[in-house]
Amino acid sequence: MVPCIKFPLFLQIFSMIITASSAITRRAICVWPGMRQLSLRKHLLYGFMSFFSIPFKTVRGVSRSLGVSHFCSVVNMSSMQVELVPCLRDNYAYLLHDLNTGTVGVVDPSEAVPVIDALSKKNLNLTYILNTHHHYDHTGGNMELKERYGAKVIGSGVDIDRIPGIDIALNDGDSWMFGGHEVLVIGTPGHTRGHISFYFPGFGSVFTGDTLFSLSCGKLFEGTPEQMYASLKRITSLPDETNVYCGHEYTLSNSKFALSIEPGNEMLQSYSSHIAHLCSKGVPTIPTTLKMEKACNPFLRTASTEIRRSLNIPATASDEETLGAIRRAKDDF
Ligand SMILES: *[C@@H]1O[C@H](CO)[C@@H](O)[C@H](O)[C@H]1NC(C)=O
Ligand SMILES: *[C@@H]1O[C@H](CO)[C@@H](O)[C@H](O)[C@H]1NC(C)=O
Ligand SMILES: [Zn+2]
Repeated sequence: MVPCIKFPLFLQIFSMIITASSAITRRAICVWPGMRQLSLRKHLLYGFMSFFSIPFKTVRGVSRSLGVSHFCSVVNMSSMQVELVPCLRDNYAYLLHDLNTGTVGVVDPSEAVPVIDALSKKNLNLTYILNTHHHYDHTGGNMELKERYGAKVIGSGVDIDRIPGIDIALNDGDSWMFGGHEVLVIGTPGHTRGHISFYFPGFGSVFTGDTLFSLSCGKLFEGTPEQMYASLKRITSLPDETNVYCGHEYTLSNSKFALSIEPGNEMLQSYSSHIAHLCSKGVPTIPTTLKMEKACNPFLRTASTEIRRSLNIPATASDEETLGAIRRAKDDF
């Protein structure tokens, strides 16, 4: 897999302010700071985003889409910053900073040093480490960060033996508070048995690890196409505007596979050229949105006649069988 971003050369910082006018409708404005100045700062390795949610918006739609009947949350005048922290070759860790409570978390720290650097720049300590699954390139920084900051490690109850330093085990359907933000845990097995995704309804974002990528899904190391199909269905039942933060910058190479099996998809054509443009500038393609993924990601498009025709999948094949066939074709691509 060729990452689209050569991280050591990645000099740009970008900031995107998403103003949430409700939990499910928001407008995005991209702000590009002075590039000339920034290009001198060779150690600036990350993008930066802020999310502000408007006070007292109820997010009832969420409880419907997740089937969580007790859930009816009120969002205080709260703001959450999400910062991309490139790690290893093509991984992303995500720094979460709840400005109201000062709570700081990191999702999937594959290594400690880039996360420590990002925290030091903002003079922050770390409260929580959130792991989507046990793989080393998502948990490799756990112990060092835990030791340094006394952070608590949050991970799947299915994987208490495989997540280094786990303190708080969460399972599908659990809800948990990160500072002032409710986090809903969605069990998303398929890539691994215990894979979970973290959904923050208050700022319309889901952290999908290696389950849903932009334009692809994770490899089926410990699960079946049926499990992956069900996991993706759970994620796509969230509101279309939900921002998707995944574990890897694989989007450019994923777009090549997606175009090879659905060349007539016009949304995919234009998204792919947008992706190529971002990558040529060294800008992350993450976050994506569920709306974009539903329109373009072949693993969410198992009903597409063009995809089925490309891969000689019979019209009678189930969605799960089709997902399995797409996954095999991608593994060989
Ligand atoms: C909102 O959050 C702030 C900071 O956490 C807190 O001080 C304030 O009391 C909250 N407001 C309400 C109305 O709950
Ligand atoms: C981080 O923790 C250290 C050690 O406990 C403390 O001295 C420092 O003030 C903390 N920094 C912040 C920004 O809270
Ligand atoms: Zn993985």
